[in-house]
Amino acid sequence: MELQSHQLLCIGCGRRLRAEEAQRDFRCADCANLFEVVYPWSPTTASPEGSGDSVAAVDNRQPNPSALRWRWRERRGSTAPIDQSGVWRFRDLLPILRDPERAVTLREGNTPLYSLPRAGGELGLERLFAKHQGMNPTGSFKDTGMTAALSVAREMGFQWVACASTGNTSAAMAAYAARARMKSLVLLPEGKISWPKLSQSIDYGALTCQLKTDFDGCAQVLLEVVRRAPVYLLNSMNPYRLEGQKTPAFEIAEELGWEVPDHVIVPGGNLANGSALGKGFMEMKHLGLTSRVPKITVIQAEGANPLYHSLRDFDGQRMEPMEANTRASAIRIGNPASWKKAVRVVQQTGGFCEQVSETEIALAKAEIGQEGIGCEPASAVTLAGLKKLVRAGKVHAAETVVLVLTGHMLKDSDYTIDFHRGQLLTAEETQGWEKQLELRRRGTRSLDANAEAVLRELEAAVPA
Ligand code: F0G
Repeated sequence: MELQSHQLLCIGCGRRLRAEEAQRDFRCADCANLFEVVYPWSPTTASPEGSGDSVAAVDNRQPNPSALRWRWRERRGSTAPIDQSGVWRFRDLLPILRDPERAVTLREGNTPLYSLPRAGGELGLERLFAKHQGMNPTGSFKDTGMTAALSVAREMGFQWVACASTGNTSAAMAAYAARARMKSLVLLPEGKISWPKLSQSIDYGALTCQLKTDFDGCAQVLLEVVRRAPVYLLNSMNPYRLEGQKTPAFEIAEELGWEVPDHVIVPGGNLANGSALGKGFMEMKHLGLTSRVPKITVIQAEGANPLYHSLRDFDGQRMEPMEANTRASAIRIGNPASWKKAVRVVQQTGGFCEQVSETEIALAKAEIGQEGIGCEPASAVTLAGLKKLVRAGKVHAAETVVLVLTGHMLKDSDYTIDFHRGQLLTAEETQGWEKQLELRRRGTRSLDANAEAVLRELEAAVPA
């Protein structure tokens, strides 16, 4: 009998499936909840149980922490594509492929963990870091999940993959599909995603459809498409996406000398990423690679805050979908698929959920930019939210904090230019923030083409 490397576990009723038993929409046939990938050594599966055929013989060798650390470091010096990938370098903890050598990789992951001394200084935090997932091949954290799930799709023999997207998932999916010589279908909310993101999926060759609806409407349509056509769903309901997206947790721990931060802060959109990172941290602790798990905090934009409401008003027991609206278009989502996973990770780790205004997002983004780093607006909610948590006494001066910057600054350059030109925010949004905004804005100057004119500007700019 072939050994099973993993199973799919329903987060609602605990039902276990073999990989090939999953429904096309990755929801449980019994209770409609989502699945997570579990291994014989997973925290939840110390002793695999279940009934009948769905649980075959399992490979239950427990990975050894020192051997893993050594192997992961060794692979950094290798020239093999899967070793150069910051996802597959950790393949021992995501054995989802029969043949990992055939993983579809663009050398994703291995992203920098930058310190943020200015922002940290202003908040009285000595150890504030940014894990810059925007430094991935297509400019967002989605690449780490895409290499995992798209490789599974290829192994299963699918020709078509599909997603609904606010722009980053689609860019990543289109790129990885192109590498794998597979075909990809992208559903986007017309007029509601940034041009650079749209340009990516077109250039990588996806069948790109703009629908006259929002992201939630696109997701709805896609579900019907995957039920009726043999296309493989690559939205984050697909639990293999999260296996790739958990690997930045390994990188963060590795980079901090196998210490874990006190807080990891992520933006919340469709609400999968926080739980992916939480899964990574929990697995590391369980295997003895680290000694604790950070508090995982999710920050939402005020206009797209269903998780914030769910936790505040219903203790995470239910979530009311809403019509979402924010200029941080990546997280403009009112009916997030993975809200239960997000509730679980926030509650299990003792993290928080906060909401931030459009003005707070814009200011935070400019502040990150002034560290020489830059990110897209959705990523900046992390710093905006951190400021609120510090003010509320939920994050303390001696603690280590990691902000996950999910997307590259060039993903939405219009936003940045509008901000610096003073054209982003309405008068109402600006009210009361004038001084802070002024401090952060940097215009451009239009000058005659002579050195005199430039020198006058230089003189005015150099502090006396
Ligand atoms: N940040 C960026 C830059 C994103 O693109 C997304 C999601 C998120 C944060 C939120 O992550 O959904 O796991 O809570 N973008 C998806 C997309 C929805 O289609 O690109 P999440």
